[in-house]
Amino acid sequence: MIKKGIILAGGYGTRMSPLTKAINKQLLPIYDKPLIYYPLSVLMLAGIKNVLIIVNKGYVNQFRKILSNGERFGIKIKYLEQAKPRGLPDAFILGEKFIGKDKVALILGDNFFYGQSLTAKFKKCAKLNSGCKILVHPVSKPELYGVAEVNNKNKVLSLKEKPKKTKSNLAVTGLYFFDNKVIDFSKSLKPSKRKELEIIDLLNKYKNIKKLSGEFLGRGAAWLDTGSIDDFYNTSAFVSALENRQGLKIACLEEIALNYKWIDKKKLKTAIKFYGNCSYSNYLKKLI
Ligand code: DAU
Repeated sequence: MIKKGIILAGGYGTRMSPLTKAINKQLLPIYDKPLIYYPLSVLMLAGIKNVLIIVNKGYVNQFRKILSNGERFGIKIKYLEQAKPRGLPDAFILGEKFIGKDKVALILGDNFFYGQSLTAKFKKCAKLNSGCKILVHPVSKPELYGVAEVNNKNKVLSLKEKPKKTKSNLAVTGLYFFDNKVIDFSKSLKPSKRKELEIIDLLNKYKNIKKLSGEFLGRGAAWLDTGSIDDFYNTSAFVSALENRQGLKIACLEEIALNYKWIDKKKLKTAIKFYGNCSYSNYLKKLI
């Protein structure tokens, strides 16, 4: 069972400038809450209570202000700074001490997942015994992502980062599950032409030893990217439409924690005080 997770929430956020000049991208709003709530909710739904958030230099305090040490959600959050964006596998080099001898999940701070039975899927992936599991989903512009060919036995046949010619319409989503080999494999990677350690190179290491499997998110699921300003607004509109229609919040961290019995109603009251008078705390009040 994977009990630890890393959220990679650094990067320069250049595509979102000037919005990201003073604020980390993951703290910008997706409708009624900061973006970071969404990937954190995914780890929590998978049953992960031990989280490391990697942020860009000088931004730990911004994250602490909103998430603190995770106590409000009954989890443990630690922070680390990444001096510069050296690539996604850098998470496992920086996070070596945090991971220790355990397995680990990684989610990119700008990834958004929503859909029925996704919680069951995340929990299933967190049961990983050995090797690596990735989640794939069809997209209309696969050339913008890591692209995988996966057969109906979940075997990954090929992998390529943002290929000009794509072999499938399956994007590799930003949620990955690894065994402990991930640390040594990451350390053995060489920077690519764009001077980054590449996640696809890391996944290929697992593929080479026949330990990589690809799970389909399923047609009923939504996987949205928040890479650009338009993506941000589209994702916000998606959340707003669903939340207002159903009266249920997406990625309400305290609600997840309460349902999992990681916090009690007394703690929830502390959270209500923390947020003050706003629609988010009105929602929390209804849970009591
Ligand atoms: O979203 C899924 C895609 O994410 C995958 O399909 C690709 O295979 C994978 O490479 C990645 O592609 P992106 O082009 O979206 O990655 P990006 O450089 O935008 O980084 C994603 C997030 O990770 C973003 O929130 C910034 C953060 N990041 C990125 C790098 C390279 C870091 O915190 N540190 C880093 O060194």
